[in-house]
Amino acid sequence: MSKPAIQFNHVTKSFNGHTVIPDLNFTVNQGEFVTILGSSGSGKTTTLKMINGLLQPDSGEIMINGQLLRDLDIVKLRRHMGYVVQQIGLFPHMTIKENLAVAPKMLGWQQGQIDERVTELLKLVQLNPAEYANRYPSQLSGGQQQRVGVARALAANPPYVLFDEPFGALDALTRLELQKEIKRIHSSLADKTFMFVTHDLNEAFYLGQRVMIMHNGKIEQFATPDEIMQVPATDFVKQLLATGHQNQALWGQYHD
Ligand SMILES: Nc1ncnc2c1ncn2[C@@H]1O[C@H](COP(=O)(O)OP(=O)(O)OP(=O)(O)O)[C@@H](O)[C@H]1O
Ligand SMILES: [Mg+2]
Repeated sequence: MSKPAIQFNHVTKSFNGHTVIPDLNFTVNQGEFVTILGSSGSGKTTTLKMINGLLQPDSGEIMINGQLLRDLDIVKLRRHMGYVVQQIGLFPHMTIKENLAVAPKMLGWQQGQIDERVTELLKLVQLNPAEYANRYPSQLSGGQQQRVGVARALAANPPYVLFDEPFGALDALTRLELQKEIKRIHSSLADKTFMFVTHDLNEAFYLGQRVMIMHNGKIEQFATPDEIMQVPATDFVKQLLATGHQNQALWGQYHD
């Protein structure tokens, strides 16, 4: 039985009188890996920020694990949501280990428990703890820093992890490697709900168990990659698939 983890009911959002999200409705189930695919300005980041309480909807309801988000304690909510963004945002004056320890420390974990967790996290993202734990962010490549960004989002073992174009600034090969990594991490951790924003069709179709295609703040289609490929719901989706057509050979390779 699938259990609803994140639900939007008639959610609307405007900025300065300009409607960005006119009426958003969807349900993401516990343990799902959902990607949100859409062009620039389609409302992807706004949607993620409403899920972790950085932005409030103007109207409508957001439910997290069956509870109204506006009734939840915001600090507690954030602890339950890992957040990875493109601009990594590691603390430059802290070592990798210290960066990873921030959330566990806030939760009052014992030092021994934190050390264990840091080692476990670095292994999870395939960085050798002996080599990297005591380095500073500037001593890592962009791809390595982004691995730490992913590890940090997972540090306190949150049930939800939100990713906002985390690999956008990386070269194609590093990006592919991290895509594989993130997919492996999702399947290795039980019951984690991942929402991953991207404007890259291949990334969205490779990672998402379901893909939410957004345009102008509306969902054009929300379905499995196969369903979208077989029955594109709107002209926009058809066009999107056509533009991605030249890359489909590559997408096929991903799925071998
Ligand atoms: N704080 C804000 N104040 C005013 N307008 C905003 C604000 N945040 C977002 N917007 C506007 O809302 C719309 C949607 O923005 P959003 O950041 O959600 O898009 P996006 O899909 O994440 O785009 P991108 O792919 O470029 O990151 C845009 O037109 C943007 O200019
Ligand atoms: Mg964005």
